[in-house]
Amino acid sequence: MNVAVIGTGYVGLVSGTCFAELGNQVICVDNVQEKVDRLNENEIPIYEPGLEELVGKNKAENRLSFTTDIGMAVRESDIILIAVGTPETETGAADMSFVYKVAEEIGRAVNDTYKVIVNKSTVPVGTSEAVQQIIEKQQPEADIDVCSVPEFLREGSAVKDTFHPDRVVIGASSIRASDMLEELHQPLTGQIVVTDPRSSEMIKYASNAFLATKISFINEMANICDIYEADVNAVARGMGLDHRIGPKFLKAGIGYGGSCFPKDVKALKYLAEEKDYHPSLLQAVNDVNEQQNRRMIEHLTRIFDDDIEGLTIAVLGLAFKPNTDDIREAPALKIIEDLDAKGANVQAFDPVAVDNAKQMITADVHYADTALDALKDADAAFLVTEWAECKALTASQFKEQLKRPVVIDGRNALDPGIMKAEGIIYHGIGRK
Ligand code: UDX
Repeated sequence: MNVAVIGTGYVGLVSGTCFAELGNQVICVDNVQEKVDRLNENEIPIYEPGLEELVGKNKAENRLSFTTDIGMAVRESDIILIAVGTPETETGAADMSFVYKVAEEIGRAVNDTYKVIVNKSTVPVGTSEAVQQIIEKQQPEADIDVCSVPEFLREGSAVKDTFHPDRVVIGASSIRASDMLEELHQPLTGQIVVTDPRSSEMIKYASNAFLATKISFINEMANICDIYEADVNAVARGMGLDHRIGPKFLKAGIGYGGSCFPKDVKALKYLAEEKDYHPSLLQAVNDVNEQQNRRMIEHLTRIFDDDIEGLTIAVLGLAFKPNTDDIREAPALKIIEDLDAKGANVQAFDPVAVDNAKQMITADVHYADTALDALKDADAAFLVTEWAECKALTASQFKEQLKRPVVIDGRNALDPGIMKAEGIIYHGIGRK
């Protein structure tokens, strides 16, 4: 099939590359010339395991190309995937301007051959209809269907998730469109669920909101475990063996980050409130997440009698989770901002996210080359992202390198028993 993918961010670049690998002819479009030039030189703008090789291979085999020419890409294709950003606005609503602009451009380019336009971006319920109207305003005779096929890939395992999704949701506005989209997705291993576009758009928000709820729930349990000296890891294990609950997304920690959960929980809340429904559960999920970060900082400051001015804190991990260089909504950003505001010096380590972090962090941070270097002469260590390099630090390394043996473990990634046996003042989340 001939496929155009508009937007070469995480979703667009990974989906386009994987569809090319499955034998389709794929044109990826981005409006940033420099990004397109770099992709044509095999320079991948994001860190994503396995992606670089796959882009190189499919380009070499002439199934994958990159361009800024959206009109050409639309005219050449039967299926057009919209995969541009829908960032958060000040109100919490999703910013739809990029999607709508692309819809207008598609409208200007469609010719008289039938095309299926697919929203892959996470979008408010009703967007498929809005995009259809925008295109038809440009071309009243356009022979198109606009559908919703949300993306569920996780950063860090995006290629694997794309080939082996748990499910593919197709929100189709006609049988003709759903047949074409089923054919495109057939080689993927997940079950295909066909529904209407609005339900499909809602499935995406509901899925992310549910996963975020699981995280905030276990974080709340961890906070209660802290008070009553129970161990949240044992609690999660005991809960997760119940098949109705399941073991995944019950890892207590510093709170969820990334480009999806924080934004999507707020966007769904906004959608409900727009129609006068006040979703108190979503509000609570968001509140617990924001407080979690602050609670961890409080653990640290309490140890130093609420005065960390002039102290040096080693921040281990900057990315919002391991195996990615993405620092959007990463807990480390707020933590560093907070430490800086309290007058502490920060020496940070991350194996791949330092360049991205430097663009976001205004504080004067010293970036260390290794996790061990970050500990040198610091007064305390704060583990923020559970990178293998950070988890591999031993209790004796913490003890030898730190000026004071204080470790705050924002991911429950270290063993409290071993830490305490080494004489370290250790604080995880909800651990005895
Ligand atoms: C998420 C969804 O999983 C994916 O389906 C959707 O397409 C995009 O959003 P992603 O943001 O890449 O993917 O990361 P994910 O692995 O889901 O983690 C999100 C955040 O939750 C991270 O900050 C992670 O550290 C945190 N998390 C996850 C926990 O704190 N505890 C857990 O048990 C699981």
